Amino acid sequence: MRDRLFLVKFGGSLITDKTKPYTPRLDVIKRLIMEIKDAVSEGVKLILGHGGGSFPHVSATKYQTHKGFINEDSVYGMAVVHNDAMKLNKIIMDELLNAGIKAFPIQPSSIAIAENSRIKEMYIKPLKILLKYGVIPVVYGDVGVDLKKGCCIMSTEEILRYLALKLKDEYDLFIVMCEVVDGVYTEDPLKRPDAEFIEEISSKNIDEVKKYLSSSHGIDVTGGMLHKVNILFELAKEGINSIIINGLVENNLKNVLTGKPVRGTIIKY
Ligand code: IPE
Repeated sequence: MRDRLFLVKFGGSLITDKTKPYTPRLDVIKRLIMEIKDAVSEGVKLILGHGGGSFPHVSATKYQTHKGFINEDSVYGMAVVHNDAMKLNKIIMDELLNAGIKAFPIQPSSIAIAENSRIKEMYIKPLKILLKYGVIPVVYGDVGVDLKKGCCIMSTEEILRYLALKLKDEYDLFIVMCEVVDGVYTEDPLKRPDAEFIEEISSKNIDEVKKYLSSSHGIDVTGGMLHKVNILFELAKEGINSIIINGLVENNLKNVLTGKPVRGTIIKY
């Protein structure tokens, strides 16, 4: 029997204040980490990924890093964005270590190569060995070298997608996305109170859901949500299921990790 392994993402909007550059939400980070600690004490294994929120997104927008090496500032910009992503990773690592959790950071930009923002190669042997020793590898949304554009943004979802496909034969995987809303809605729930909650996304409604997500406005929540759903559905086709939950609701993460029912959108095939 394969061991269960969770791939958990802390969304950037959850762990930072997206309206204020370089502002972590330390109370939320500390609570989520305590929930992980509780789950780990019950034998739960996981890889943790986190978004960048208001740390690298500001510089990434300034230097248009997602477009590649487009002008003479691009190489410098790529380094600045990476540095900003690392600053938030340092805060997350500080809190994990303060909580006494065995976690170790893995720097995606140093071990991966992308092509048009899709990861083609990644040297994951150290990560696999850390897992065997019961350590939580910590990855994060980063920049990366890109064979087509020079550089790109490697989102946490893209990193987790690559890892999931590489680890699925060895582990029984389940992906948990912690966001600031309960899951996927027909419209942006933060702007439209009449938006309807979607409990499950599968081959039955995926086309309809994609239409909702691409026609609604609000880059942060819905643009991000479409990217997430596309990647999660791609993984569902490979037999890897996932759930999007609200990380602002206390104990949601702990409950999912310990097998208790939680409100969220399930993505399966
Ligand atoms: C973004 O990573 C990383 C950079 C801009 C370098 P993610 O796409 O995973 O982050 P969030 O969750 O949207 O903040």
